[in-house]
Amino acid sequence: MDYKKLITEKLNIDGVEKETLYGFIEVPPNTDMGDYALPCFKLAKALRKPPVKIAEDLASAFVPDQYISDCTAVNGYLNFKINRKGYAFNLLDQIVSEGDNYGSDNIGNGKTICIDYSSINIAKPFHIGHLSTTVIGSALCKIFRFLGYKVVGINHLGDYGTQFGKLIVAFKKWSSFEAVEKDRLKELTRIYVKYHDEAKIHPEMDDEARRYFKLIEDGDKESNQLFELFKRITLEEVDKIYKLLNVDFDSYAGESFYNDKMAPVVDELKEKGLIKISDGASIVDLEEYGMPPCLILKSDGSSLYATRDMAAAVYRKNTYDFDKCLYVVAYQQNLHFKQFFKVLELMGKTWAKDMVHVAYGMVSLESGSMSTRSGNVVLLEDVINKTIEKAYKVIEEKNPALEGKDKIAKAVGTGAVIFGALCNNKIKDIVFSYDRVLSFEGETCPYVQYTVARCNSVISKCGEGGCFDGVDMNADEYQVISELGRFKDVVKAAGEKYEPSFVTRYALDLATAFNKFYMNCKIAVEDEKIKNFRLQITKAVKITLTNALTLLGIETVEAM
Ligand code: ARG
Repeated sequence: MDYKKLITEKLNIDGVEKETLYGFIEVPPNTDMGDYALPCFKLAKALRKPPVKIAEDLASAFVPDQYISDCTAVNGYLNFKINRKGYAFNLLDQIVSEGDNYGSDNIGNGKTICIDYSSINIAKPFHIGHLSTTVIGSALCKIFRFLGYKVVGINHLGDYGTQFGKLIVAFKKWSSFEAVEKDRLKELTRIYVKYHDEAKIHPEMDDEARRYFKLIEDGDKESNQLFELFKRITLEEVDKIYKLLNVDFDSYAGESFYNDKMAPVVDELKEKGLIKISDGASIVDLEEYGMPPCLILKSDGSSLYATRDMAAAVYRKNTYDFDKCLYVVAYQQNLHFKQFFKVLELMGKTWAKDMVHVAYGMVSLESGSMSTRSGNVVLLEDVINKTIEKAYKVIEEKNPALEGKDKIAKAVGTGAVIFGALCNNKIKDIVFSYDRVLSFEGETCPYVQYTVARCNSVISKCGEGGCFDGVDMNADEYQVISELGRFKDVVKAAGEKYEPSFVTRYALDLATAFNKFYMNCKIAVEDEKIKNFRLQITKAVKITLTNALTLLGIETVEAM
């Protein structure tokens, strides 16, 4: 039952489309005043009347029916009360019958969204700075799929640049195939850091590095073999982390993939008269738009990060015909995205408007900002392992007889890391603290997972369930039901605003409402109808919490 739709159908407002009206109706945070509300200030412009008057006029014209029992005007809001029992019974039925699909939608209608996320740099350690893009991007992929979009998840690998020449020099001086195979990214980081220390004293090493990089580009066999080794080792290592975090990609086409795809874009820029030469470099002047110029080619003719992104955007449009192309990248790169989106627009690409930079805040350490070169990083793998270990210890303390402790500790540990990264509005900066990630108290993932396990134990104790027609509903029960009913809107809003934290917060709210209900209302009571009703609520909560966590890439556990 779509109550918003019923309400829109009952309201006749000249000059306002039903669809627009639908979008204005909201679920108030406190349902004492009503179950749905229409903020009439949103209609003031179209109706040229003050909101208070609009609300009063609409309220007096309203005729109640079996679904919407009451409508009152309060301070420019129109508050609707629904027939709560009818609503509750319908909703519970719907949730239990839809199961895994509850909350999904078809607003995407098969349209394609490309999501560029994680996009790690080859041969660099996977540190906590990469956590946000990875889990935000992955959650957005899952959310958009749930909303009926076709999603293409892209890991735009940073696999091009002089740093690979530097690594070859470093490898030849201080490492070996055996050492790289054995110590993996740690070894690559070790020699990379060493290179930067030594190059300070021996700047001629940089010439050598440039020479090797040129060799890679020119297809030299030995240099490319080394480059492929660095790439393979990196991908093998990060893949372990992706698996833990339930993250996957449809494409790993990175920067080097566009080596042969930039020339046509550069030619087009020239043809359209957009290129200017400045100190030998080719640029697109963006002064008119209040931005520094976008660098397209260096004076030696080599391409830049923006050139590759331009070629990638054109490639993605041609290959996937996307409706939207998202870039989940820290706000540090705001200017880069503004510039290159602008250049596409100037080229006459009408789809430039469909490119979105989904910016998020920076992660720093208590000891300052992170830097691979100086070795000041916290590795994601270490964080995840420590959290899993901690989860294991907590289980040992509280529930040593639990079956499948390893698996549960893994779900709880990785869940805590993901949930922690998705808990706040994405644009906020974060100072990483082990204590916080390792804390299982308060608004955390273990709290939500524990709630699912609690539902599960209720369900296995109470048996099949059955009819609850005519049962009376108390406030705690209704609070849970009204939370359950919000899920679909929450998922849609999370997609619209590119904000997975809406789902995270929602999971906490629903868990809290359920736990309050659980504390106040005994479920396995004598009265069959009440028992069945409460059991049905519990089943619906389990389904909805599981769906919410799944959208975030978090596993639930049967017991913990
Ligand atoms: N590898 C880049 C970095 O670590 C991020 C790439 C983001 N994606 C893109 N298409 N520019 O900064």
